[in-house]
Amino acid sequence: MMRRFFRSVCFSLLAGGVLLGARPSVGEAAVRDEGRWWQDAIFYEIYPRSFQDSDGDGVGDLKGIVARLDYLQKLGVTALWITPFFLSPMVDFGYDVSDYRKVDPLFGRDEDFDVLLREAKKRGLRVVIDLVLNHTSDQHPYFLESRSSRTSPKRDWYIWKDPGPNGEPPNNWKGFEQTSWEFDPSTGQYFYHYFCKEQPDLNWRNPEVQQAMLSILSEWVARGVDGFRLDAINYLIEHPDLPDNPLASEVPPEERFIVNYDQIPRYSVNQPENFGLFELLRRHVEDSHGPDVLLLGEAWVPSLKDLLPIYGVSGQGIHLPFNFFFLQQPKLEAEGFAKVLRESDAILGTRPTTMVLSNHDMARATWRYATETNSDSVAKALGALELAAPGVPVLYYGEELGMRGREPQSLDEVRDPLGRNQWPAFKGRDLARTPVAWDEGPNGGFSTGKPWLALAPFDLRRSVAVQSADRDSVLNFYRALIALRKNEPALRQGRLEAVEAHGTVLQFRRRAGEKAILVMLNLSDRPAPAPDFSGKTLLGSHAGKWGAVLAPWEVRIGSDVVLSSSR
Ligand code: BGC
Ligand code: MG
Repeated sequence: MMRRFFRSVCFSLLAGGVLLGARPSVGEAAVRDEGRWWQDAIFYEIYPRSFQDSDGDGVGDLKGIVARLDYLQKLGVTALWITPFFLSPMVDFGYDVSDYRKVDPLFGRDEDFDVLLREAKKRGLRVVIDLVLNHTSDQHPYFLESRSSRTSPKRDWYIWKDPGPNGEPPNNWKGFEQTSWEFDPSTGQYFYHYFCKEQPDLNWRNPEVQQAMLSILSEWVARGVDGFRLDAINYLIEHPDLPDNPLASEVPPEERFIVNYDQIPRYSVNQPENFGLFELLRRHVEDSHGPDVLLLGEAWVPSLKDLLPIYGVSGQGIHLPFNFFFLQQPKLEAEGFAKVLRESDAILGTRPTTMVLSNHDMARATWRYATETNSDSVAKALGALELAAPGVPVLYYGEELGMRGREPQSLDEVRDPLGRNQWPAFKGRDLARTPVAWDEGPNGGFSTGKPWLALAPFDLRRSVAVQSADRDSVLNFYRALIALRKNEPALRQGRLEAVEAHGTVLQFRRRAGEKAILVMLNLSDRPAPAPDFSGKTLLGSHAGKWGAVLAPWEVRIGSDVVLSSSR
């Protein structure tokens, strides 16, 4: 599923060392950002369409989020990332913005966002919004003006090119669609769009575009947001010569990180010129708004070392680029996860990183790694990884419930444009975006109307109400994990030590000063020998005394441990 997402959705390319700039020296970036609020945060991603509907139209909204802030506060998360709620034709469900300054009526009124901000702050929750920089909607006034004539003052705000000699597109590039070029008959040129044809790419080489987007960012800061999740930042700049991308079959297998249909987006994605723009964004944010406005960057890169230039030499780039290397693990296995833990630590050094296992673009981790039968146990192990391993956790809504989601059963049901384009080879991202079940009422209390996506029967049986009343639920385990992380500096900021995989058991230690915490996870459906442990138990997924055997998927977290072995 995920591979297919990568293959067809094509979130990025490789080009590794060839395209990447100078490497920063380890540690400098972190020193610059030390003590910033996000380093201690626990993020929670909300996909507003599916969180809580307040007006019965079957689509979640801002008022719905406000109504659930108490739930989030009790869960213990400290920051929200809310995916786009701006005015949009909703071709890509809000990632096609037609007015960055306005709330789409589907999600409420402009004032509803101010209420959300106020109420979130009251509860100690930071709010980060999603800023779509690479493209706008084709209905955005900028684009309408740009396409109006070849001499429009905004013509150069987008990427327009003449057809080839036989009327063909300027090159072979593909992205969300079979061709990334759309012909505009009235002006006789093609425009470029990496994503859907309704999402034309802005021309980020144009300083007017840069200024326009920076001023939107500033307006939201003035309104009170704490930062931005920057969408698709590795797509901002395209190669100036627009060379054809190589076919996947022409490049060695190790370079095939992402395949767009049959090609590698070598010249359309991850261009080194992006790094200068990251510095521009960072400089603007710091100069105009100080050091506390977070830039959380979405960039799919081929290897961990490719994240370094995104932070920037000496850390003048993106504060916190997502680390997607955990969720790309094909299996939930001790050795694989141990390897990513070790490599992230070695390569990123003391730079802040993220721990993320699910988001709105891929099947949930429970879906990928578990069956319905072991899903709840797997969900607890995933929670322990997310909240006890290094990195700022970015939970995806419903992870704390062990939600699995639901796949569309027929093309008719598919809402995601990618799924519609590529059915049945790829069924799209709807399965990660199904609504939350809050209680045992109709539609799980999500909406009094017909939900825009059907809830999964599995998830309906595990509503917030049901799980709140069950001491052993995934939800209550997440609550305990979050409380533990907040309580233990070693789990928040501690060094990573002694990462080991013993058969199916993953263990690692976190240390802050004298205090060490040992985390043990049996990533298997079978029992396994438990590591030696003589310290104090802090939290476990299974009740009772800790014996010599770990049950399937058992999690144990204990403190004050001295291990004989070390990494
Ligand atoms: C978002 C996707 C979206 C795409 C285009 C991504 O990175 O996470 O959901 O379709 O950008 O905006
Ligand atoms: Mg672009």
